[in-house]
Amino acid sequence: MPLLEVIHVSKTFGGLRALDGVNLSVERGETFGLIGPNGAGKTTLFNVISGFLQADEGQVRFHGHDLVGLRPHQICRRGVARTFQLVQPFSDMTVLDNVAAACLFGRHRIASIQGARERARHLLELVRLDAKASVPAGSLTLSERKRLEIVRALATGPDLLLLDEVMAGLTPAEGQEMGATIRHMQAEFHLTLLIIEHNVRLVTGLSHRMAVLNHGSMIAEGEPTEVVRHPEVIKAYLGERRSRGA
Ligand SMILES: Nc1ncnc2c1ncn2[C@@H]1O[C@H](COP(=O)(O)OP(=O)(O)O)[C@@H](O)[C@H]1O
Ligand SMILES: [Mg+2]
Repeated sequence: MPLLEVIHVSKTFGGLRALDGVNLSVERGETFGLIGPNGAGKTTLFNVISGFLQADEGQVRFHGHDLVGLRPHQICRRGVARTFQLVQPFSDMTVLDNVAAACLFGRHRIASIQGARERARHLLELVRLDAKASVPAGSLTLSERKRLEIVRALATGPDLLLLDEVMAGLTPAEGQEMGATIRHMQAEFHLTLLIIEHNVRLVTGLSHRMAVLNHGSMIAEGEPTEVVRHPEVIKAYLGERRSRGA
């Protein structure tokens, strides 16, 4: 049984069909990359999986159980965590307490603030943010905020982690470093990852399988190096560049 199954999911905003009968299946332990031009529906799919939006049609199954109709916190407690494309930490709280709060909220039911802070410290070391533990989250750089966002999701104890463009806006060196962190995290926590990423090269290097969303429909799926060579994929990306005048 796949860990995550998205079955014929559609979502319409007014007249716009953001998701149009999307199917996706992710196996346990897999890193699955989801790419596609701006506005393709990638974040909408994450919103549906994590319960922030209700699908108009279709099913989402996790561990074989239907997630449709559950609230985001219920889905989180079942083991699905996500990051947001626009990172939104509690800016006035310290980095440590941002993570500790997620530890308290998550599945492990850590009962004390002290226990949560201990766990948070360990997690911050993992993403090399331990030196920043006591500064307010609002003072972090973009790269640091992205790492905090990941670690807050990780702190809830997920089986499946959804990463939404965590490498966007990073320098090439920071992007490489983020890739290494993601690999390291997956190994330590036996995570299954679904990664939305604009940087096709980085996500190709991380993923076991990949799929491409365009105008709400999957246009290709399979082995990463084959997917990026698919003629429809090349057309979708070139079309986007042309429309931006690049
Ligand atoms: N809450 C919303 N209300 C109305 N339109 C939305 C909403 N969320 C996304 N959209 C629209 O749906 C389409 C897909 O958006 P999105 O899923 O954010 O794409 P991607 O993440 O692939 O760039 C876009 O045209 C976007 O403007
Ligand atoms: Mg998006």
